[in-house]
Amino acid sequence: MTVPPADPISRVFAPDALERTVRIRGWVLRSRSSGGILFLLLRDRTGTVQVTGRKDVLGAEGFDATEHVQVEGAIEVEGTVAEDPRAPGGREVRARTVTIHDPGLPFPIFQEQTEEFRLDKRHLVIRSPEHVATFRVKAELLRAVREFLDAEEVLEVTPPILTGNPAEGGAEAFTIDYFGRPGYLSQSAQLYLEAMIAPHERVYAITPSFRAEKSRTPRHLTEYQHLEVELAWYDLDGLIDFIERMVVSLCHAVAERRQPELRLLGRAPEELLALHTPFPRISYEEAIARLATQGFPVRWGSDLGTAEERALTVEERSPLFVTRYPRELKAFYMARTPNDPRTVEATDLLAPEGYGEIVGASCRETNLVALRQRIEEIGANPEEYEWYLDLRRHGNVPHAGFGVGVERVMRWMLRREHIRETTPFPRTPSRHTP
Ligand code: 4AD
Ligand code: MG
Repeated sequence: MTVPPADPISRVFAPDALERTVRIRGWVLRSRSSGGILFLLLRDRTGTVQVTGRKDVLGAEGFDATEHVQVEGAIEVEGTVAEDPRAPGGREVRARTVTIHDPGLPFPIFQEQTEEFRLDKRHLVIRSPEHVATFRVKAELLRAVREFLDAEEVLEVTPPILTGNPAEGGAEAFTIDYFGRPGYLSQSAQLYLEAMIAPHERVYAITPSFRAEKSRTPRHLTEYQHLEVELAWYDLDGLIDFIERMVVSLCHAVAERRQPELRLLGRAPEELLALHTPFPRISYEEAIARLATQGFPVRWGSDLGTAEERALTVEERSPLFVTRYPRELKAFYMARTPNDPRTVEATDLLAPEGYGEIVGASCRETNLVALRQRIEEIGANPEEYEWYLDLRRHGNVPHAGFGVGVERVMRWMLRREHIRETTPFPRTPSRHTP
């Protein structure tokens, strides 16, 4: 029970609501008065509706107080649902009484303010229609992820965020003082997920991952939501099939269930519905050959940067798998390619339209000696990874997995210029507040 009970604004637009009394409440989006009538636009979680208030009904005092409610002030209205062709949605609520929960101070947010100011006021800016739509899409995406993985019999698990050894190499880990010993904020749950495949075979986790990268780019956050999946008995081809089925399924689910939000943000749902498997696949070797013809020479062994990833996909409608990267470019745990010691069994999935890497995936090295050697080669201490190496001693089986940057996927899906628009309180090198 809520206190006091109220109707959702959506109730106003139900077929049988006309001429009925409703009690609605929410936040004032806009307000003006003319000729003794107040016009308010009221928002709750279910939508917006026009509310009109007449001085002769509300009384001089009530009218005056309501007129002084600011944008984003909070009120409750009891009134009658009436037809009005000029109102958004064709209906309005004619107020009999207005209860003011908070008249509010003048709302400090306007469109034309600088980006820095808007980031300082992020706690208020997230009420904008664009942010409301964005975070409804994000919730839908996460729901679709869980539905898909549940149907695939992948078990959701809860790995730790505080760790004693970095998962992706030390350079980009946030270090913490763990009661006098070094600790790290998780960069990836992968090592823990690998431990959990022996009893469960297929596991996933959605956790915050932390990257102490000073990169000020439109696609890096220092804290992001990381979806990671680990699958026993998978090779690279099986993994790629799994990833592309998942991506198509997520895009279709969001496109079917969040049409108005997608349109508001400038993405036609039809474009997401048009996605289908298989996605094109090229090797790193083929990618650099293609890039050379496009005027982006890449020496074998150099990484593909933002410009290169963009060049490969900017004209594409489908995501693109780039496979078998040089092993020096990739993490220590990746399995070598059989018959090619120079490369690893890894793939990055690049989003279309130039948005860049959204998924990083690989088969894991199962050879204990090779794994320990790679840990030494990257300058880490194998003793710190002893528990991880132990996994290669007890029921060591072929396995593979991937990580998806949830905000990276959102940036592509919603055509956002900057990744920070896909998370309510973005964490970047220059900002960890509000
Ligand atoms: O490619 P990454 O570093 O791979 C891993 O962490 C693996 N351990 C995942 C696994 O196999 N379980 O990160 C995975 C994905 C990237 O493809 C990208 O989408 C996202 O995480 N990502 C970031 N997203 C936002 N901001 C950052 N700074 C990101 N760094 C990586
Ligand atoms: Mg990567």
